[in-house]
Amino acid sequence: MITASISPDEYESFREFLEDASGIVLGDNKHYLITSRITRLMAELSIQSFSELLDRIQEDQRLRHRIMDAMTTNETSWFRDTYPYEFLMEKFFPERARQNGDLIRIWSAACSTGQEPYSISIAANEFMIKNPGLISSDGVQVWGTDISSNALQQARAGSYDDVALSRGMSPDLRKRYFRQEGNQWRVSNDVKKRVNFQELNLKAGFASLGKFDIIFCRNVLIYFAPALKSDIMYRMSQSLKPNGYLVLGGSETISGYSDSFEILRWKSVGVIYQLKRGGGNLRFS
Ligand SMILES: C[S@@+](CC[C@H](N)C(=O)[O-])C[C@H]1O[C@@H](n2cnc3c(N)ncnc32)[C@H](O)[C@@H]1O
Repeated sequence: MITASISPDEYESFREFLEDASGIVLGDNKHYLITSRITRLMAELSIQSFSELLDRIQEDQRLRHRIMDAMTTNETSWFRDTYPYEFLMEKFFPERARQNGDLIRIWSAACSTGQEPYSISIAANEFMIKNPGLISSDGVQVWGTDISSNALQQARAGSYDDVALSRGMSPDLRKRYFRQEGNQWRVSNDVKKRVNFQELNLKAGFASLGKFDIIFCRNVLIYFAPALKSDIMYRMSQSLKPNGYLVLGGSETISGYSDSFEILRWKSVGVIYQLKRGGGNLRFS
């Protein structure tokens, strides 16, 4: 019989492992969260107790991966919060279109199951249709990265059921950008072709991805400790082209974590950050 009862020491060891591996900080008394997310995995792998799980984590890389998959929250939706996509359509693309045809590079840094990078790609397509000739169809490249290989597998497939698709997708855009296959909806090749996916842990280095015009880092920093938030914001400032933008989640802020960005208010509904001239140079921690 598998039990997932957890002693205080085991809880502490698991918490350390998770923060060390992914940056995710588990608050006190989140036993229920661990139990609800890990019990099925333990049953599948015939792991009899939580202490056995902790032992196996030490030598089993695949298990570590599976646990991170289970412990991440992949909640997302299409065009989440609306204003970042208005900003793309009304300010970002028009501004970038004026800049001598350089490839426009956009990074969705915790892209979950793909709704965010595909929403960005759809917004790019809509801009191109409404403003013919300003940006070429292959003039925008979107990167979607995440630590969760399960989430990325779904993102790469680009296929969603009714429930997932209904969260934020209008009937008009659904009709134009998705094809129904049984009870799934597959994103069109036009949208898919400019999105690249890669597994990436934000704790690790990401300079190799190159420089971006705008980074969406939304609803992931909330899970991290202050020093890691600050470190990631600093490294993102180094990964932006001059005048590049950073978009955080609605409940996230740079205040107290970074001095690299100006704050732009967008129509009094949201905030977008723009890299300061000369970038920032303070690493808070
Ligand atoms: C709540 S979702 C946010 C998805 C999307 N950005 C949005 O706002 O709708 C958080 C995502 O962060 C990912 N994540 C958690 N820790 C991470 C890390 N250390 N590196 C990269 N991604 C991470 C999770 O796997 C999850 O898919």
